[in-house]
Amino acid sequence: MTHIDSKNTSGLNRRDFVKGSAMAAGGIMLSGLAWDASAMTLQKPKELKLALVGCGGRGSGAVVQALIADPNVKLVAMADAFRDRLDACYSNITKDDVDGKGSLKAKIDVPEKNKFVGFEGYKSAIDLADVVILATPPGFRPYHLEYAIKQSKHIFCEKPLATDAVGIRKVLGLLEESKQKNLNIVVGLQRHYESSYREIMKRVHGGEIGDVTSGQVYWNSAGVWVRERQPDMTEMQYQMRNWYYFNWLCGDHIVEQHIHNIDVMNWAKQGYPVKAQGMGGRQVRTGKEFGEIFDHHYVEYTYEDGAIMNSQCRHIKGCMDKVTEEIVGTKGRADGSGNIVDLKGNIIYKHRGKDDPNPYEQEHVELFASIRKGGVINDLENGAKATMTAIMGRMATYSGRELTWEEAINSEVNLFPDRLAWDANPKSMPDKNGFYTIAVPGVTQVI
Ligand SMILES: NC(=O)c1ccc[n+]([C@@H]2O[C@H](COP(=O)([O-])OP(=O)(O)OC[C@H]3O[C@@H](n4cnc5c(N)ncnc54)[C@H](O)[C@@H]3O)[C@@H](O)[C@H]2O)c1
Repeated sequence: MTHIDSKNTSGLNRRDFVKGSAMAAGGIMLSGLAWDASAMTLQKPKELKLALVGCGGRGSGAVVQALIADPNVKLVAMADAFRDRLDACYSNITKDDVDGKGSLKAKIDVPEKNKFVGFEGYKSAIDLADVVILATPPGFRPYHLEYAIKQSKHIFCEKPLATDAVGIRKVLGLLEESKQKNLNIVVGLQRHYESSYREIMKRVHGGEIGDVTSGQVYWNSAGVWVRERQPDMTEMQYQMRNWYYFNWLCGDHIVEQHIHNIDVMNWAKQGYPVKAQGMGGRQVRTGKEFGEIFDHHYVEYTYEDGAIMNSQCRHIKGCMDKVTEEIVGTKGRADGSGNIVDLKGNIIYKHRGKDDPNPYEQEHVELFASIRKGGVINDLENGAKATMTAIMGRMATYSGRELTWEEAINSEVNLFPDRLAWDANPKSMPDKNGFYTIAVPGVTQVI
Protein backbone atom coordinates (compact mmCIF):
# COMPACT_ATOMS: atom_id res chain seq x y z
CA MET A 1 0.00 0.00 0.00
CA THR A 2 1.52 3.27 -1.03
CA HIS A 3 -1.46 5.63 -1.08
CA ILE A 4 -3.84 7.07 1.44
CA ASP A 5 -7.30 6.37 0.11
CA SER A 6 -10.74 5.81 1.51
CA LYS A 7 -9.94 2.14 1.98
CA ASN A 8 -6.72 2.39 3.89
CA THR A 9 -8.02 5.14 6.15
CA SER A 10 -10.91 2.72 6.86
CA GLY A 11 -13.72 5.19 6.97
CA LEU A 12 -11.81 7.88 8.82
CA ASN A 13 -12.45 11.20 7.21
CA ARG A 14 -9.50 13.41 6.36
CA ARG A 15 -9.76 15.52 9.52
CA ASP A 16 -10.00 12.47 11.75
CA PHE A 17 -7.02 11.02 9.95
CA VAL A 18 -4.98 14.17 10.38
CA LYS A 19 -6.01 14.48 14.04
CA GLY A 20 -5.14 10.85 14.70
CA SER A 21 -1.76 11.10 13.03
CA ALA A 22 -1.05 14.36 14.81
CA MET A 23 -1.79 12.72 18.14
CA ALA A 24 0.47 9.81 17.28
CA ALA A 25 3.28 12.26 16.63
CA GLY A 26 2.86 14.21 19.84
CA GLY A 27 0.72 17.07 18.60
CA ILE A 28 2.22 17.37 15.16
CA MET A 29 2.04 14.96 12.28
CA LEU A 30 5.70 14.48 11.57
CA SER A 31 6.05 10.75 11.59
CA GLY A 32 5.44 10.26 7.88
CA LEU A 33 3.33 7.27 8.77
CA ALA A 34 -0.20 6.48 7.70
CA TRP A 35 -2.46 4.42 9.92
CA ASP A 36 -3.91 1.45 8.12
CA ALA A 37 -6.69 0.37 10.48
CA SER A 38 -7.68 -2.64 8.36
CA ALA A 39 -4.18 -4.12 8.56
CA MET A 40 -3.57 -2.74 12.08
CA THR A 41 -0.12 -1.64 10.96
CA LEU A 42 1.58 1.65 10.27
CA GLN A 43 2.44 2.09 6.62
CA LYS A 44 4.37 4.79 4.85
CA PRO A 45 2.68 6.35 1.80
CA LYS A 46 4.78 7.37 -1.18
CA GLU A 47 6.94 10.39 -0.50
CA LEU A 48 5.80 13.57 -2.19
CA LYS A 49 8.55 16.04 -2.96
CA LEU A 50 7.74 19.69 -2.38
CA ALA A 51 9.36 22.86 -3.77
CA LEU A 52 8.81 26.40 -2.53
CA VAL A 53 9.03 29.29 -4.97
CA GLY A 54 8.91 32.65 -3.20
CA CYS A 55 10.24 32.32 0.36
CA GLY A 56 8.69 35.41 1.93
CA GLY A 57 5.96 35.75 4.53
CA ARG A 58 3.27 33.74 2.80
CA GLY A 59 5.62 31.18 1.31
CA SER A 60 7.08 30.54 4.77
CA GLY A 61 3.60 30.01 6.18
CA ALA A 62 2.34 27.90 3.29
CA VAL A 63 5.33 25.57 3.35
CA VAL A 64 4.75 24.80 7.03
CA GLN A 65 1.08 24.20 6.36
CA ALA A 66 1.96 21.86 3.51
CA LEU A 67 4.49 19.94 5.60
CA ILE A 68 2.01 19.27 8.38
CA ALA A 69 -0.87 18.50 6.04
CA ASP A 70 0.49 15.20 4.78
CA PRO A 71 2.23 12.25 6.44
CA ASN A 72 5.02 11.89 3.89
CA VAL A 73 5.86 15.13 2.18
CA LYS A 74 9.41 16.43 2.03
CA LEU A 75 10.62 19.91 1.13
CA VAL A 76 13.46 19.34 -1.35
CA ALA A 77 13.97 22.68 -3.10
CA MET A 78 13.58 26.40 -2.51
CA ALA A 79 13.78 29.36 -4.87
CA ASP A 80 13.75 33.08 -4.22
CA ALA A 81 14.83 36.13 -6.12
CA PHE A 82 16.95 37.15 -3.12
CA ARG A 83 19.39 35.00 -1.15
CA ASP A 84 18.62 36.67 2.21
CA ARG A 85 14.90 35.94 1.88
CA LEU A 86 15.58 32.29 1.11
CA ASP A 87 18.00 31.99 4.04
CA ALA A 88 15.60 33.67 6.47
CA CYS A 89 12.83 31.28 5.46
CA TYR A 90 15.10 28.25 5.69
CA SER A 91 16.32 29.13 9.17
CA ASN A 92 12.75 29.77 10.27
CA ILE A 93 11.39 26.44 9.15
CA THR A 94 14.36 24.47 10.46
CA LYS A 95 14.04 25.82 14.00
CA ASP A 96 13.59 23.28 16.80
CA ASP A 97 10.07 24.57 17.29
CA VAL A 98 8.26 26.09 14.33
CA ASP A 99 5.50 28.36 15.60
CA GLY A 100 4.67 26.02 18.47
CA LYS A 101 4.25 23.11 16.10
CA GLY A 102 7.45 21.26 16.99
CA SER A 103 10.32 20.47 14.68
CA LEU A 104 9.83 19.98 10.95
CA LYS A 105 13.46 19.03 10.27
CA ALA A 106 12.61 15.43 9.42
CA LYS A 107 10.50 16.76 6.55
CA ILE A 108 13.08 19.17 5.17
CA ASP A 109 15.99 18.11 3.00
CA VAL A 110 17.17 21.11 0.99
CA PRO A 111 20.91 20.86 0.37
CA GLU A 112 22.75 23.93 -0.83
CA LYS A 113 22.57 22.73 -4.45
CA ASN A 114 18.76 22.80 -4.24
CA LYS A 115 18.57 26.43 -3.13
CA PHE A 116 18.05 28.60 -6.18
CA VAL A 117 18.43 32.37 -6.27
CA GLY A 118 17.46 34.86 -8.98
CA PHE A 119 14.75 35.21 -11.60
CA GLU A 120 15.19 31.81 -13.24
CA GLY A 121 15.63 29.65 -10.13
CA TYR A 122 11.96 28.68 -10.06
CA LYS A 123 12.49 26.30 -12.97
CA SER A 124 15.19 24.27 -11.23
CA ALA A 125 13.17 24.12 -8.01
CA ILE A 126 9.98 23.05 -9.80
CA ASP A 127 11.88 20.36 -11.73
CA LEU A 128 12.79 18.62 -8.46
CA ALA A 129 9.26 18.40 -7.03
CA ASP A 130 5.93 16.62 -7.29
CA VAL A 131 4.08 19.50 -5.64
CA VAL A 132 5.02 23.17 -5.82
CA ILE A 133 4.09 26.22 -3.78
CA LEU A 134 4.06 29.44 -5.82
CA ALA A 135 4.18 32.42 -3.46
CA THR A 136 6.06 35.21 -5.19
CA PRO A 137 4.45 38.58 -5.89
CA PRO A 138 1.62 37.95 -8.35
CA GLY A 139 3.23 39.53 -11.42
CA PHE A 140 5.31 36.37 -11.87
CA ARG A 141 2.45 33.95 -11.34
CA PRO A 142 1.48 33.39 -15.02
CA TYR A 143 5.07 32.43 -15.88
CA HIS A 144 5.54 30.22 -12.83
CA LEU A 145 2.18 28.55 -13.37
CA GLU A 146 3.04 28.00 -17.01
CA TYR A 147 6.25 26.21 -16.16
CA ALA A 148 4.74 24.14 -13.33
CA ILE A 149 1.81 23.02 -15.48
CA LYS A 150 4.07 22.19 -18.45
CA GLN A 151 6.14 20.08 -16.02
CA SER A 152 2.91 18.38 -14.78
CA LYS A 153 3.23 19.42 -11.14
CA HIS A 154 0.50 19.69 -8.54
CA ILE A 155 0.30 23.26 -7.29
CA PHE A 156 -0.61 25.41 -4.35
CA CYS A 157 -0.48 28.92 -5.66
CA GLU A 158 -1.23 32.13 -3.90
CA LYS A 159 -3.65 34.69 -5.19
CA PRO A 160 -3.74 36.88 -7.30
CA LEU A 161 -2.86 34.95 -10.46
CA ALA A 162 -1.65 37.93 -12.49
CA THR A 163 -1.55 41.71 -12.47
CA ASP A 164 -2.80 42.51 -15.98
CA ALA A 165 -5.12 41.08 -18.61
CA VAL A 166 -2.19 39.77 -20.66
CA GLY A 167 -1.21 37.62 -17.66
CA ILE A 168 -4.78 36.48 -17.11
CA ARG A 169 -5.07 35.32 -20.72
CA LYS A 170 -1.86 33.36 -20.28
CA VAL A 171 -3.26 31.66 -17.16
CA LEU A 172 -6.60 30.87 -18.78
CA GLY A 173 -4.67 29.47 -21.73
CA LEU A 174 -3.19 26.87 -19.34
CA LEU A 175 -6.53 25.66 -18.04
CA GLU A 176 -7.14 22.97 -20.63
CA GLU A 177 -3.68 21.46 -20.21
CA SER A 178 -4.01 21.44 -16.41
CA LYS A 179 -7.33 19.62 -16.74
CA GLN A 180 -6.04 17.09 -19.25
CA LYS A 181 -3.16 16.30 -16.92
CA ASN A 182 -5.51 15.95 -13.90
CA LEU A 183 -3.39 18.36 -11.93
CA ASN A 184 -4.50 19.51 -8.52
CA ILE A 185 -4.29 23.29 -8.29
CA VAL A 186 -5.38 25.02 -5.11
CA VAL A 187 -5.46 28.82 -5.24
CA GLY A 188 -5.00 30.73 -1.98
CA LEU A 189 -8.43 32.34 -1.98
CA GLN A 190 -8.84 30.69 1.38
CA ARG A 191 -12.43 31.72 1.98
CA HIS A 192 -13.27 28.80 -0.34
CA TYR A 193 -11.67 26.52 2.26
CA GLU A 194 -13.30 28.23 5.27
CA SER A 195 -16.27 26.45 6.80
CA SER A 196 -18.34 29.56 7.51
CA TYR A 197 -18.14 30.76 3.90
CA ARG A 198 -18.86 27.29 2.57
CA GLU A 199 -21.93 27.03 4.75
CA ILE A 200 -23.17 30.52 3.87
CA MET A 201 -22.67 29.91 0.15
CA LYS A 202 -24.50 26.60 0.29
CA ARG A 203 -27.44 28.46 1.79
CA VAL A 204 -27.21 31.42 -0.61
CA HIS A 205 -27.10 29.06 -3.59
CA GLY A 206 -29.97 27.11 -2.04
CA GLY A 207 -32.13 30.24 -2.16
CA GLU A 208 -32.25 31.16 1.55
CA ILE A 209 -31.82 34.89 0.81
CA GLY A 210 -33.78 34.72 -2.49
CA ASP A 211 -32.27 36.15 -5.67
CA VAL A 212 -28.98 37.92 -5.05
CA THR A 213 -29.52 41.50 -6.23
CA SER A 214 -26.53 43.32 -4.77
CA GLY A 215 -23.61 43.17 -2.38
CA GLN A 216 -21.16 45.36 -0.53
CA VAL A 217 -17.58 44.20 -0.28
CA TYR A 218 -14.85 45.94 1.71
CA TRP A 219 -11.11 45.88 2.36
CA ASN A 220 -10.58 49.11 4.23
CA SER A 221 -7.43 49.16 6.32
CA ALA A 222 -4.37 51.20 7.21
CA GLY A 223 -2.20 49.61 4.52
CA VAL A 224 0.89 47.41 4.54
CA TRP A 225 4.67 47.53 4.83
CA VAL A 226 7.08 49.76 2.88
CA ARG A 227 10.59 48.57 2.07
CA GLU A 228 13.07 51.40 1.80
CA ARG A 229 15.33 52.08 -1.15
CA GLN A 230 19.00 51.46 -0.31
CA PRO A 231 21.68 53.58 -2.00
CA ASP A 232 23.27 50.67 -3.88
CA MET A 233 20.04 49.28 -5.32
CA THR A 234 19.27 49.19 -9.01
CA GLU A 235 15.74 50.23 -9.93
CA MET A 236 14.84 46.57 -10.52
CA GLN A 237 16.14 45.57 -7.09
CA TYR A 238 14.21 48.39 -5.45
CA GLN A 239 10.92 47.53 -7.15
CA MET A 240 11.37 43.84 -6.39
CA ARG A 241 11.91 44.63 -2.68
CA ASN A 242 9.17 47.25 -2.42
CA TRP A 243 6.92 45.26 -4.74
CA TYR A 244 3.60 46.20 -3.20
CA TYR A 245 3.68 49.65 -4.79
CA PHE A 246 4.41 48.64 -8.39
CA ASN A 247 1.64 47.40 -10.60
CA TRP A 248 3.62 44.92 -12.69
CA LEU A 249 4.37 43.06 -9.46
CA CYS A 250 1.35 43.74 -7.25
CA GLY A 251 -1.56 44.98 -9.35
CA ASP A 252 -2.49 47.64 -6.73
CA HIS A 253 -4.20 46.75 -3.46
CA ILE A 254 -7.57 46.32 -5.14
CA VAL A 255 -6.01 43.29 -6.83
CA GLU A 256 -3.60 42.11 -4.15
CA GLN A 257 -5.95 42.23 -1.14
CA HIS A 258 -9.48 43.18 -2.11
CA ILE A 259 -9.61 40.23 -4.51
CA HIS A 260 -10.70 38.12 -1.51
CA ASN A 261 -13.90 40.10 -1.00
CA ILE A 262 -14.62 40.57 -4.70
CA ASP A 263 -14.27 36.82 -5.13
CA VAL A 264 -16.91 36.23 -2.45
CA MET A 265 -19.51 38.25 -4.34
CA ASN A 266 -18.66 36.42 -7.59
CA TRP A 267 -19.04 33.17 -5.66
CA ALA A 268 -22.48 34.24 -4.43
CA LYS A 269 -23.49 35.18 -7.98
CA GLN A 270 -21.84 32.08 -9.49
CA GLY A 271 -20.54 34.32 -12.25
CA TYR A 272 -18.44 37.35 -13.08
CA PRO A 273 -19.42 40.98 -13.70
CA VAL A 274 -20.11 42.11 -17.24
CA LYS A 275 -19.03 45.71 -16.65
CA ALA A 276 -17.49 48.06 -14.12
CA GLN A 277 -17.06 51.76 -13.46
CA GLY A 278 -15.51 53.47 -10.51
CA MET A 279 -13.36 56.13 -8.98
CA GLY A 280 -10.22 56.27 -6.91
CA GLY A 281 -6.97 58.06 -6.27
CA ARG A 282 -4.20 58.67 -3.78
CA GLN A 283 -4.94 61.43 -1.35
CA VAL A 284 -2.85 60.54 1.67
CA ARG A 285 -0.23 58.04 0.59
CA THR A 286 1.47 60.35 -1.85
CA GLY A 287 5.15 59.79 -1.02
CA LYS A 288 7.52 58.34 -3.60
CA GLU A 289 7.91 55.20 -1.46
CA PHE A 290 4.31 54.36 -2.37
CA GLY A 291 5.30 53.89 -6.01
CA GLU A 292 2.38 54.12 -8.39
CA ILE A 293 -0.64 52.62 -6.60
CA PHE A 294 -3.79 54.38 -5.37
CA ASP A 295 -4.78 54.54 -1.71
CA HIS A 296 -8.52 54.14 -2.35
CA HIS A 297 -10.84 52.65 -4.97
CA TYR A 298 -14.60 52.43 -5.24
CA VAL A 299 -16.01 50.25 -8.02
CA GLU A 300 -19.57 49.54 -9.11
CA TYR A 301 -19.61 46.17 -10.83
CA THR A 302 -22.69 44.97 -12.74
CA TYR A 303 -23.54 41.30 -13.31
CA GLU A 304 -25.42 39.98 -16.31
CA ASP A 305 -28.77 39.98 -14.48
CA GLY A 306 -28.30 43.59 -13.36
CA ALA A 307 -27.13 42.74 -9.83
CA ILE A 308 -24.58 45.21 -8.47
CA MET A 309 -21.45 44.71 -6.40
CA ASN A 310 -20.33 47.85 -4.56
CA SER A 311 -16.65 47.35 -3.89
CA GLN A 312 -14.53 49.64 -1.74
CA CYS A 313 -10.95 49.32 -0.63
CA ARG A 314 -8.81 51.84 1.17
CA HIS A 315 -5.28 51.98 2.55
CA ILE A 316 -5.45 55.04 4.79
CA LYS A 317 -4.65 55.22 8.48
CA GLY A 318 -7.13 56.64 10.98
CA CYS A 319 -10.26 55.75 9.03
CA MET A 320 -12.95 53.10 9.51
CA ASP A 321 -11.34 49.68 9.06
CA LYS A 322 -13.63 47.04 7.60
CA VAL A 323 -12.83 43.80 5.79
CA THR A 324 -15.95 41.83 4.98
CA GLU A 325 -18.74 41.13 2.53
CA GLU A 326 -22.51 41.53 2.66
CA ILE A 327 -24.63 39.71 0.11
CA VAL A 328 -28.14 41.13 -0.39
CA GLY A 329 -31.03 39.07 -1.74
CA THR A 330 -34.76 39.47 -2.25
CA LYS A 331 -35.50 37.53 0.96
CA GLY A 332 -32.59 38.48 3.22
CA ARG A 333 -28.90 39.12 3.62
CA ALA A 334 -25.80 37.01 4.28
CA ASP A 335 -22.49 38.32 5.56
CA GLY A 336 -18.85 37.38 5.83
CA SER A 337 -19.16 36.73 9.56
CA GLY A 338 -21.42 33.76 8.87
CA ASN A 339 -24.82 35.31 9.55
CA ILE A 340 -27.99 35.19 7.49
CA VAL A 341 -30.86 37.53 8.33
CA ASP A 342 -34.32 37.94 6.82
CA LEU A 343 -35.63 41.22 5.44
CA LYS A 344 -36.66 42.34 8.93
CA GLY A 345 -33.20 41.64 10.34
CA ASN A 346 -34.18 38.47 12.22
CA ILE A 347 -31.28 36.02 12.36
CA ILE A 348 -32.20 32.91 10.43
CA TYR A 349 -28.74 31.31 10.48
CA LYS A 350 -25.60 31.96 12.50
CA HIS A 351 -22.48 29.93 11.82
CA ARG A 352 -20.84 28.62 14.95
CA GLY A 353 -17.20 28.22 14.00
CA LYS A 354 -15.65 27.02 17.25
CA ASP A 355 -14.05 23.85 15.86
CA ASP A 356 -13.65 24.96 12.27
CA PRO A 357 -10.32 24.10 10.70
CA ASN A 358 -7.94 26.94 9.88
CA PRO A 359 -8.61 27.67 6.19
CA TYR A 360 -4.90 28.22 5.45
CA GLU A 361 -4.22 24.71 6.75
CA GLN A 362 -7.32 23.27 5.16
CA GLU A 363 -6.15 24.34 1.69
CA HIS A 364 -3.16 22.02 2.05
CA VAL A 365 -5.04 19.23 3.80
CA GLU A 366 -7.47 19.07 0.87
CA LEU A 367 -4.74 19.49 -1.76
CA PHE A 368 -2.66 16.58 -0.45
CA ALA A 369 -5.68 14.39 0.24
CA SER A 370 -6.79 14.90 -3.35
CA ILE A 371 -3.32 14.10 -4.73
CA ARG A 372 -3.17 10.96 -2.59
CA LYS A 373 -6.51 9.65 -3.73
CA GLY A 374 -5.98 10.54 -7.39
CA GLY A 375 -8.64 13.23 -7.29
CA VAL A 376 -8.68 16.65 -8.89
CA ILE A 377 -9.19 20.06 -7.33
CA ASN A 378 -8.65 22.75 -9.91
CA ASP A 379 -9.17 26.35 -8.75
CA LEU A 380 -7.35 27.86 -11.72
CA GLU A 381 -10.32 29.23 -13.65
CA ASN A 382 -11.97 30.94 -10.71
CA GLY A 383 -8.59 32.17 -9.48
CA ALA A 384 -7.93 33.77 -12.86
CA LYS A 385 -11.41 35.25 -13.24
CA ALA A 386 -11.50 36.56 -9.65
CA THR A 387 -8.15 38.22 -10.37
CA MET A 388 -9.52 39.60 -13.64
CA THR A 389 -12.53 41.06 -11.83
CA ALA A 390 -10.19 42.97 -9.52
CA ILE A 391 -7.97 44.05 -12.45
CA MET A 392 -11.08 45.31 -14.26
CA GLY A 393 -11.88 47.38 -11.16
CA ARG A 394 -8.41 48.91 -11.23
CA MET A 395 -8.78 49.66 -14.93
CA ALA A 396 -12.08 51.41 -14.18
CA THR A 397 -10.69 53.55 -11.35
CA TYR A 398 -7.50 54.42 -13.21
CA SER A 399 -9.30 55.41 -16.40
CA GLY A 400 -12.59 56.74 -15.03
CA ARG A 401 -14.29 54.85 -17.85
CA GLU A 402 -17.00 52.23 -17.82
CA LEU A 403 -15.45 49.03 -19.10
CA THR A 404 -17.04 45.80 -20.21
CA TRP A 405 -15.53 42.46 -19.19
CA GLU A 406 -14.68 41.83 -22.84
CA GLU A 407 -12.84 45.12 -23.20
CA ALA A 408 -10.98 44.57 -19.95
CA ILE A 409 -9.89 40.99 -20.52
CA ASN A 410 -8.77 41.75 -24.05
CA SER A 411 -6.63 44.70 -22.96
CA GLU A 412 -3.19 44.68 -24.57
CA VAL A 413 -1.60 46.70 -21.77
CA ASN A 414 1.33 44.55 -20.69
CA LEU A 415 2.90 45.69 -17.42
CA PHE A 416 5.66 43.07 -17.35
CA PRO A 417 9.24 44.27 -18.07
CA ASP A 418 10.66 43.48 -21.48
CA ARG A 419 13.73 42.02 -19.81
CA LEU A 420 14.19 40.51 -16.36
CA ALA A 421 17.61 41.23 -14.91
CA TRP A 422 18.92 43.25 -11.99
CA ASP A 423 20.22 45.91 -14.34
CA ALA A 424 17.09 46.01 -16.53
CA ASN A 425 14.55 48.82 -16.26
CA PRO A 426 10.96 48.07 -15.33
CA LYS A 427 8.42 49.92 -17.51
CA SER A 428 7.45 52.34 -14.75
CA MET A 429 10.52 54.42 -13.89
CA PRO A 430 10.91 57.27 -11.40
CA ASP A 431 11.40 60.89 -12.45
CA LYS A 432 14.50 62.79 -11.34
CA ASN A 433 12.94 63.33 -7.91
CA GLY A 434 12.11 59.66 -7.46
CA PHE A 435 8.36 59.94 -8.16
CA TYR A 436 6.42 57.62 -10.46
CA THR A 437 3.64 58.34 -12.93
CA ILE A 438 0.27 57.98 -11.24
CA ALA A 439 -2.88 57.13 -13.17
CA VAL A 440 -5.16 60.11 -13.88
CA PRO A 441 -8.85 59.30 -14.45
CA GLY A 442 -10.06 60.74 -17.74
CA VAL A 443 -6.53 60.64 -19.15
CA THR A 444 -5.00 57.24 -18.41
CA GLN A 445 -5.54 54.59 -21.09
CA VAL A 446 -6.02 51.05 -19.83
CA ILE A 447 -7.05 49.07 -22.89
N1 LIG B 1 -4.07 34.31 0.88
C1 LIG B 1 -3.65 35.20 1.73
O1 LIG B 1 -4.30 35.52 2.71
C2 LIG B 1 -2.32 35.86 1.51
C3 LIG B 1 -1.67 36.52 2.55
C4 LIG B 1 -0.44 37.12 2.29
C5 LIG B 1 0.11 37.08 1.03
N2 LIG B 1 -0.55 36.43 0.04
C6 LIG B 1 0.01 36.38 -1.32
O2 LIG B 1 1.25 35.72 -1.31
C7 LIG B 1 2.13 36.27 -2.27
C8 LIG B 1 3.44 36.66 -1.58
O3 LIG B 1 3.18 37.62 -0.60
P1 LIG B 1 4.12 37.78 0.69
O4 LIG B 1 3.33 38.57 1.67
O5 LIG B 1 4.67 36.48 1.06
O6 LIG B 1 5.28 38.70 0.11
P2 LIG B 1 6.82 38.67 0.53
O7 LIG B 1 7.45 39.89 -0.03
O8 LIG B 1 6.93 38.45 2.00
O9 LIG B 1 7.39 37.38 -0.21
C9 LIG B 1 7.51 37.27 -1.59
C10 LIG B 1 8.83 36.55 -1.85
O10 LIG B 1 8.92 36.23 -3.24
C11 LIG B 1 10.26 36.49 -3.64
N3 LIG B 1 10.28 36.69 -5.09
C12 LIG B 1 9.93 37.79 -5.79
N4 LIG B 1 10.04 37.53 -7.10
C13 LIG B 1 10.48 36.28 -7.25
C14 LIG B 1 10.80 35.45 -8.36
N5 LIG B 1 10.63 35.91 -9.61
N6 LIG B 1 11.23 34.21 -8.14
C15 LIG B 1 11.39 33.75 -6.87
N7 LIG B 1 11.10 34.48 -5.78
C16 LIG B 1 10.65 35.73 -5.97
C17 LIG B 1 10.66 37.71 -2.84
O11 LIG B 1 12.04 37.93 -2.80
C18 LIG B 1 10.05 37.40 -1.49
O12 LIG B 1 10.93 36.68 -0.68
C19 LIG B 1 1.38 37.43 -2.90
O13 LIG B 1 0.77 37.03 -4.09
C20 LIG B 1 0.31 37.77 -1.88
O14 LIG B 1 -0.84 38.33 -2.46
C21 LIG B 1 -1.72 35.81 0.26
